[in-house]
Amino acid sequence: MVIIRAKAWFLIWFLLITSVAVMLMSFFTLGIDDLASIIIGIILIIASDSLNIELSKDTIITMSLPVIYGLSLYHFQNVNLLPWMIIPAILMSEIRRKAEWYKAVFNTSAILISALLCSITFSYLLYLFPSPQAFTNIGVLLSALAGGLAFLFTNAILISSIVSFSYGYSFKDVLINQILKKEQLAAVFLSFIIGYTGLVLFQFSIYSIIIAIPLVYGIYLLFKRGRELELESQIAMEMAASTVDLRDATYTSLHSKRVRDFAAAIAKALDLPRSSIEVIENAALVHDIGKIGISDIILKKPDSLNSEEWIEMKQHPVKGHELLKKLTKYREVARLVLYHHERWDGKGYPAGLKGDKIPLEARVLTLADALEAMLSDRPYRDRLTISQVIDELTIGEGTQFDPILTKIAVGLINKGVIS
Ligand SMILES: [Fe+2]
Ligand SMILES: [Fe+2]
Repeated sequence: MVIIRAKAWFLIWFLLITSVAVMLMSFFTLGIDDLASIIIGIILIIASDSLNIELSKDTIITMSLPVIYGLSLYHFQNVNLLPWMIIPAILMSEIRRKAEWYKAVFNTSAILISALLCSITFSYLLYLFPSPQAFTNIGVLLSALAGGLAFLFTNAILISSIVSFSYGYSFKDVLINQILKKEQLAAVFLSFIIGYTGLVLFQFSIYSIIIAIPLVYGIYLLFKRGRELELESQIAMEMAASTVDLRDATYTSLHSKRVRDFAAAIAKALDLPRSSIEVIENAALVHDIGKIGISDIILKKPDSLNSEEWIEMKQHPVKGHELLKKLTKYREVARLVLYHHERWDGKGYPAGLKGDKIPLEARVLTLADALEAMLSDRPYRDRLTISQVIDELTIGEGTQFDPILTKIAVGLINKGVIS
């Protein structure tokens, strides 16, 4: 479901017209001897664009960013070259990716404007620091840093605007929680360091770049190992969680995986950003991991629990939270696990949070968990029929479940997405 509202269209057209105007205006200042620089720039951007370094699941460096940053600094005395390198190169990459035309226009113009502001900031600040204008000079380094910040903030503001205009989220929320996230910032600053180091080496000697390649590769391998360790801890957690599903007499072995599928369907219908959907999916897979600390007598009891047993059972979100929060990768997931038995009316556990005080992602999880329970056979009853599930949801709407999410879930059930 793609929602593009009028304000978003306005921004796209504004960026399109601005980029075309900048390109045309700069055309008249170019000379024939600029052609070689432009072609080299285009080749460098296109070649680097398909090189991705995945530092972690959320931290991906596309090597075109260091290259564009480096080019913006290198050509600070001839900013007019930039549109002629960036527009063709990024457009070609977007076409290769089969992006919709408006996304291609937006991405290309956003990068162009960010690069231009980076270059202008850099050249303006350079005048404050007298010669020698070598990239090893501290004044040049600080100016480059300021240029980088101009790049980062221009791009972040443009992306947050388009996301908030398109989906109706608050601009501040998108900017802080989605775009300027720690992982993204780490990737951007690393890109700047790579771009700048490239420039220093290039100014020193073209051969030093060749010498630097094995060094960069070594660093890449270190990050890759870190990523592998992270994946291993994820697999271990998910295995522990599926063992809990097997131990729990009321669940089927696929409970957590089905909760993940239902939660992902609801989150996608809500148009939540990709990173939020990933957190929800990871949380769904381990949501009952805290039951690892609940005794078999309670977990496998065929009859209903007495009040003491209930007190122990209600501890599983807290135990799950305690376990998961120790792993950096699971910190956000841990918070959702803690709240997966809260209710919209505040009568849930462990915190008794009410309404939108419960994190949205946790509300999605609660609903998916309940839906999976209704849609699977239990030792004491068969799975509910679709109309029975809809009846149950209608009863729970606004009491147990978030009313908006409930409506979305009913829609998904009717469409057969959740079954
Ligand atoms: Fe649970
Ligand atoms: Fe569950």
